[in-house]
Order: sequence, then C-alpha cells, then structure tokens
Amino acid sequence: MGVRKNQATLTASEKARYIAAVRQLKANGDYDRYVAQHREAMQSPMMPAHMMPAFLTWHREYLRRFEIDLQSIDPSVTVPYWDWTADRLPNASLWAPDFMGGDGEPGSRRVITGPFAFSTDQWTLTVTSPDAPDPALRRTLGQPFGLPTASQVNAALGIVPYDSPPWMRSSPGFRSRLEGLHNVVHPWVGGPNGSMGGPTSPNDPVFFLHHAFIDRLWAQWQTLHPDRAFYLPTVGGPQGHNLNDPMSPWGGSATPASVINHRALGYSYDTEPVDGEEPVGGIVDLTVGAPPVQTSIGRAGEVDIYRFPVPAAGNYRIETQGPTDVLMSLFGPNSPTALVTEDDDSGQDRNARIVTRLTAGAYFLRIRHYQPSSTGSYGILVAREAAAPPIREIPVNGPAIQGNIEAANESDLYTFSAGVTGIYTIATQGNTDTFLSLFGPNSQNRLILQDDDSGPGFNSRIVADLAAGAYFVRVLHYEARGTGLYRLSVRR
Ligand code: CU
Ligand code: CU
Repeated sequence: MGVRKNQATLTASEKARYIAAVRQLKANGDYDRYVAQHREAMQSPMMPAHMMPAFLTWHREYLRRFEIDLQSIDPSVTVPYWDWTADRLPNASLWAPDFMGGDGEPGSRRVITGPFAFSTDQWTLTVTSPDAPDPALRRTLGQPFGLPTASQVNAALGIVPYDSPPWMRSSPGFRSRLEGLHNVVHPWVGGPNGSMGGPTSPNDPVFFLHHAFIDRLWAQWQTLHPDRAFYLPTVGGPQGHNLNDPMSPWGGSATPASVINHRALGYSYDTEPVDGEEPVGGIVDLTVGAPPVQTSIGRAGEVDIYRFPVPAAGNYRIETQGPTDVLMSLFGPNSPTALVTEDDDSGQDRNARIVTRLTAGAYFLRIRHYQPSSTGSYGILVAREAAAPPIREIPVNGPAIQGNIEAANESDLYTFSAGVTGIYTIATQGNTDTFLSLFGPNSQNRLILQDDDSGPGFNSRIVADLAAGAYFVRVLHYEARGTGLYRLSVRR
C-alpha cells in the first residue's frame, strides 16, 4: 500500500524521485493527456467533476490513475499532499528550486526557478485554455493569509451530510464547503492568467499536491463520521453523480461507489494508521473528573477524537497537559459536528484549555498538533469547574450567618451594605480558627483590614469606621488545611 505523505516531510531524495517521475510522465506525453482530461471535464455541459457531488470522487479516480502512471515509472513514488493550512507562505520549502519551483518573475509571471521553469525546455504547456494561454508555467503566489485556515477546515470537517440537494456548489453539506475552500487555493497559486487557474490547472504540478490534500480531508471526514453515508446522492441526483453512475470519461466500473474507500484503491495517508497496527482513529471515551488520559500524536497530521458525557449543565474545563503544542476543538452537544469552540494556547506551556458552560449531552473533542508535521505526547482531561459560589449577603444588625469551611484552602466571600457612615464590627463566632479580610467600599479587591484572633477564642473581629457603601468579607481558616463551622455577623 502506498502512503501519501505531507510534502513538508519529504526527504531530498523523495522529492527528487517525485520530480523525476513527473518530468518523465510529461516527456512521454501522458501528463498532457491528464491536463486535457481535466479541461474536458470542466468544459463538459454535465460538469461531472466540479461544483457537484462527484467533485471528490472524480478527482480521487483522476489522482489515483495519475499516481499509478507515476508508479509505473518509479514504484517508490506516491503523490504528496500540500497542507496549505500549515505551509502558507511563498517561501515555504514547497516552492524551493528542488521541488515545485517558485513564484513567477515580475512582469511575465513566468516561473523561472525549479524543475518546471520554461527555460528547462522540459515544461512547455501544450494543453492550454483562454484562461491560461501562456505555454510557460505561470504563478503569482498570493498573500500569506489568502489561503483557507485550519479552523475553516476544521469547521468543514464537522459538516454533515456529505452532500444534499440541490447538489450544487452552494448546497449545504461537506462536499460543497470543502470544494469552496479548495477553490480559493487555485487562484492563490496562479493569480491572473496563471496556470493553476481554469480548466487546464493540472498544468501546474502543484495541482496534484493540492488535490491530494483535498482527498485526504475527505478520508478524514469519513473517519470522523463513520455513521454517515460516505457519499451522496445514492439515487435521484444529477446524472453522472449518483453513487453507481459511471463517471465520465472513464465510464464502466469507475463510479463514485468504486472510490469511496481509498484504501481499497491501494493507498493511505501518513495521517492514518498503517495496516495491522492499532488504529489511531476511533473515538476514545473520557470521563469527567477522571485523571488525565496519557496519549500522543504519533503521526504527522494525526487527529485524535474523544467523547465525553456531560451529566448535568455546568461549567466544565477541558485541558491538555505535557510538552506538546496541540489544538483542541470542542463539538456538541450530541453532535460530533456542531463546533462549540476551539483553543490553542490558553493552558500552561502552550497547552490547550477550554473552560465553558455546557448543557447536558455528549461532547466530542478533536486534538491535533499545532504543527501538522510534528508529533508528541500529551495528557487530556475533563473536569467540572466549581461554579463561582454566590456571594451571600450579611444583614447588618441581623442574626449571625452560619458558614462552613468545608475544604482545604476554601475561602468564603460575603457582602454587606453599610447604609450610613459609622463604626461597624465584623466578627466570627464558634470553635473554628477563622481569618477575616475586609474589602471595600464597592470593591472586592481593595483591602481595608485583616484580623486573626481579636475575638474570643480563635475568633476574628474587625472594628472599622466605614463610609456608606458595599463591603466584602472573606473568611479563611487560619490553617491552610483546616476546616470547620463558624458564624459571622456585622453590627453597627
Ligand atoms: Cu478539478
Ligand atoms: Cu482543483
């Protein structure tokens, strides 16, 4: 089984072999046959390949045939993918002279570096279109943030179903959203009249790396939604786009159904488990309040998926621990696809941390490395956050309030209202060694006085001349680990 790799992780010799195979395919005329096939597919009145459900299936078949042709030249070669959510800059190694070559030169926009420069005499475009008539490879690499982002891709991966009526570009569904993101990348590379635009876009060899990533995202979507139809429509959609319709121009047994399972076609992605290994995918269950689950991103681009039940509405904290910089996306309730929120670095040491109110239901987490080419270990946990306790009001000159320091390091907060300026006494009673702090007026942070033992026994007492306003009283145990009952009163 061939493994398609992230192009950013290829060795120099892997790059050289891929380039050599592509140039050989060009030299023997087969490459241009692929360009012509794509041009026909885009110009067909049925538009079988774009803006409709078979977009992903058509390009999967197309790429696989291209890859098999490359492998007949060099069996070690697979089509790498370009993760443009990570490699977003025109100076990325993707565009170096040892691989795809760089940007077009000012003026002509012709690529003058790398193996596909016109000057090499080995990359003359023979199948062109009015959108891109130049026989030389042309690029105008775009602005750094003109490419779709990781969070846009994550959001698209959350969408179900695969596709839905009216089965067009703007249909609700995963395919339409992903195709829309894909559409942005072509002009980012090509610019005006660039080779990556229009029906002859495979003239730019980066076309295949771009579409390999799109293909990988479809495979990833299938892993995320194992209970969903991997392809739609089954029947009743546009001709050529139903599950068992032959796809033009191959016809016969080349149907959407025949390419649903990419592994059955003989390849996988470096983000997927290798055959025979414990699957990386699958959903790992987490328990609220349990110790962290220790795990790792074992492969570049791996996405780990978790599920946890929220038994009751409340504030919850989800966080990762350890040395690995991960991104976390939270989905739910009762849906692995409805994005709640995402986080990168809110935790300690670049860990991810989400604290949010959740209603009851099942929630899902997707964890990936911030650097898609990196791996590393991490722990993950979900905990219920203690709701911020309500601030109890002490009635001035009223009966004492019963308080309880139930746990180590607990601090109880109270408020009282000084209606008029005067001398006020704040005091605890009972057998617990309390420690009092008084804040105000109208501030929980402006400290006025503290006291430990001015009252009878170990009780605390503060006597203060206070202006009218709201005051706050904090009660601690004198011992950090101490607990106990007390009563608290305020008198003027
Ligand atoms: Cu296409
Ligand atoms: Cu495309």
